Amino acid sequence: MRLLILNGPNLRLLGTREPEIYGAFTLADVEALACKTAEQFGAKADCFQSDIEGELVARIGAARGVYDGIVINPAAYTHTSVALRDALAASALPAIEVHISNTHRREAFRQVSYTAPMCVGQLMGFGLYGYALAVEGLIHYLNSERKRG
Ligand code: DQA
Repeated sequence: MRLLILNGPNLRLLGTREPEIYGAFTLADVEALACKTAEQFGAKADCFQSDIEGELVARIGAARGVYDGIVINPAAYTHTSVALRDALAASALPAIEVHISNTHRREAFRQVSYTAPMCVGQLMGFGLYGYALAVEGLIHYLNSERKRG
């Protein structure tokens, strides 16, 4: 089982970026936890971060037939990107949307997700640990789908 872990704009700044909201952990911590969690469940994860919408769209576009599912934190593109939403729909891969912060406790413009309707589920507010939960949730979903045939 192969998983693609995608992180969107400004998440490479984790550790220094608004630590009161996003914590002190880094993108390297996020990617290490996602890979370790995948391995614990017998899966392999590849991680990619970009500030550029088109690069994220391209990665999703190339994922079909290579990956079984996607964990994505689209960051600010969550609230703006029809292109990412369409890419997730076109991939037809199960995806889990994850957010470090609980966006429902924040500004009104963060209350809308263009991408969540294309996902199996959405997780938010658990900080770094949310990535472990998202990977575990995705693997559980994929295993259930396989059993159902
Ligand atoms: C975020 C929430 C978004 O609203 C914000 O633009 C981000 C990070 C989160 O993980 O909490 O960049 O996706």
